[in-house]
Amino acid sequence: MGGEIIPSSEIIKWAEERGVAIASLNFNNYEFLNSICKAAADLDVPVILATTEGAIKYLGIDVISSMVPRLVKRYGIKASLHLDHGRKIETVLLAIRNGYTSVMIDASDKPFEENVRITSEVVKICKPLGITVEAELGVLAGVEDEVSGEKNIYTDPEQAKEFVERTGVDMLAVAVGTSHGAYKFKGEPHIDIDRVKRIRELTGIPLVLHGASGVYEDIAEKIGLKGARGLSDELLMEAIRHGIRKVNTDTDLRMAFIYGIRKSLEQSPTEIDPRKHLRVAMDEIYKMVVRRLKVISFLEKG
Ligand code: G3H
Ligand code: 13P
Ligand code: ZN
Repeated sequence: MGGEIIPSSEIIKWAEERGVAIASLNFNNYEFLNSICKAAADLDVPVILATTEGAIKYLGIDVISSMVPRLVKRYGIKASLHLDHGRKIETVLLAIRNGYTSVMIDASDKPFEENVRITSEVVKICKPLGITVEAELGVLAGVEDEVSGEKNIYTDPEQAKEFVERTGVDMLAVAVGTSHGAYKFKGEPHIDIDRVKRIRELTGIPLVLHGASGVYEDIAEKIGLKGARGLSDELLMEAIRHGIRKVNTDTDLRMAFIYGIRKSLEQSPTEIDPRKHLRVAMDEIYKMVVRRLKVISFLEKG
């Protein structure tokens, strides 16, 4: 079953029925995408294939929209094509015109009323087309290409309720302690589970956790990322038990890729066929996606 790009809401339904979450995995090239699709097929779980505005700039949306359906079909997986951190309505429209089935409108850096207005406009466009809409309330710290925030501003549960009622959004990204990138915590990993619980109770919709990478020590050490720290698998699973249904992961895949490339260059310094090095990196991404899917979709532990 599968092989076609479907809305994220259909995929999230699969997770709701099981009380687990769906991995939303970012890609910026063929190597990432192929490894993600292969892992999803081998484990037989749905996935959300995510591109940021930065990924669209890098790859070209025409390339994304022709490559993704082919790989989803090749592997026969259940997947959606998602715009991650769409900042402008124009980007949302561009994504829709290019076959995306799911969009995030991220106006979380704007005042509440403006966030409501922009998100409502996107919902009005997407609902009739059957496209899933994610919005964000609260601010995640961390800086990357197109995604930045100075400090964490946790999502207020009452405000989340009002936001969801007024906008009609399908999924809500919440700020509960994580941040983007490889340096999430100075001390022990911590997220506000009670806040997750409360937001879920008040909104009743699927919640999204950004900045959820595990930043696993074994890989971080190998690529020399000193002091890097991510979310523990245990905390992530606890958050999922309380209503997180979409778990975003980018950094873990980037780290796996870099590890693979470095290992291959060290082992074969005179190899000049890039495909030989990329093959090693693809294997590392594949292993990382399998590792993440097992945690996020509770494939091993209950
Ligand atoms: O939040 C998403 C990413 O980790 C940042 O990705 O560098 O493509 O903007 P980007
Ligand atoms: P990480 O940096 O933790 O992988 O988070 C990715 C993310 O939130 C993409 O939207
Ligand atoms: Zn994010």
